[in-house]
Amino acid sequence: MLNEKRIKAIIVIALFLIESLVWTANGSGNAWSLGIIGSPDGPTKIIGGADGPTKIIVGKEEPNNPGQNQEGGQDADGTGSQGGGENPQSEDPAGNGGDSESGRTSEDDGNGSQTLEEAREKGFLILVNKENPIDKSYKPDDLTEIKYFAPDRSKAGRYMRAEAAAAFHRMVDKASQEGIVLKMTTAYRSYDFQKILFDSYVEKEGEEAANKYSAKPGQSEHQTGLSVDVSSPSVGYQLSNEYGETPEGKWLAGHAHEFGFIIRFPKGKEDITGYQYEPWHIRYVGRAAAEEIYKEGLTLEEFLQENH
Ligand code: DAL
Ligand code: ZN
Repeated sequence: MLNEKRIKAIIVIALFLIESLVWTANGSGNAWSLGIIGSPDGPTKIIGGADGPTKIIVGKEEPNNPGQNQEGGQDADGTGSQGGGENPQSEDPAGNGGDSESGRTSEDDGNGSQTLEEAREKGFLILVNKENPIDKSYKPDDLTEIKYFAPDRSKAGRYMRAEAAAAFHRMVDKASQEGIVLKMTTAYRSYDFQKILFDSYVEKEGEEAANKYSAKPGQSEHQTGLSVDVSSPSVGYQLSNEYGETPEGKWLAGHAHEFGFIIRFPKGKEDITGYQYEPWHIRYVGRAAAEEIYKEGLTLEEFLQENH
């Protein structure tokens, strides 16, 4: 009997210690980072948030890729090579990946889409927002794994459409040459996963508050495979307004367009985008659109209205 009590006490203490370690590793307080830890069979915890605030939320496992966890922690301090999360040697869910060394795919000439027509044809100008939802079942068929990711991030969220992933790799490589470390925290998110996130925020803060920073399922452009949340080891991979003031956040805002990305939710445009300022959330639209959006200080909504 005594032994049984002792064993129970040891289990409780061990669980407490593991929880503390996980919490510490991800930074207490404003840990705006997403990670999923769990076993294929057991319950899963989502640490922090993706495009959302802090705290541990408990949810179900990512339905599309159950059990694929704990693979991003190779570069726990993030100070190593740009490939902190590089070469995870994982499966390609779309079966059409690409050249993981160069970050290029068979359809990618190294520059991405050059014209608006090309971008439009490839679906890179799709508008997904509160007024324009995407079908629940939509999943891009050219999802390609991103090799630069923050530690402990869900593998399921580590994909983008092929051209966007290649552009992301080029951007991170260029930043690295200039001493700037950028990594993804989450990219593709399925409808079901977005629902888990959104519901957890609603539970904590209510729907109105949650919907200022988190999209309802079907309304998140993360489901398009064209968006990626970016952060850096210098801020513990947090996603916060302050990221925009860091050297990395400034580099991102000043250079993302050169690779076909835009800051999707800019400061001062909340009424148009429907979401608060997110210096970490970038969206692939191809070079031509990104250059114009950047130079004219537009949102995607405004740009598309001008360019029908
Ligand atoms: N944070 C953006 C709006 C999203 O959840 O997709
Ligand atoms: Zn985002």
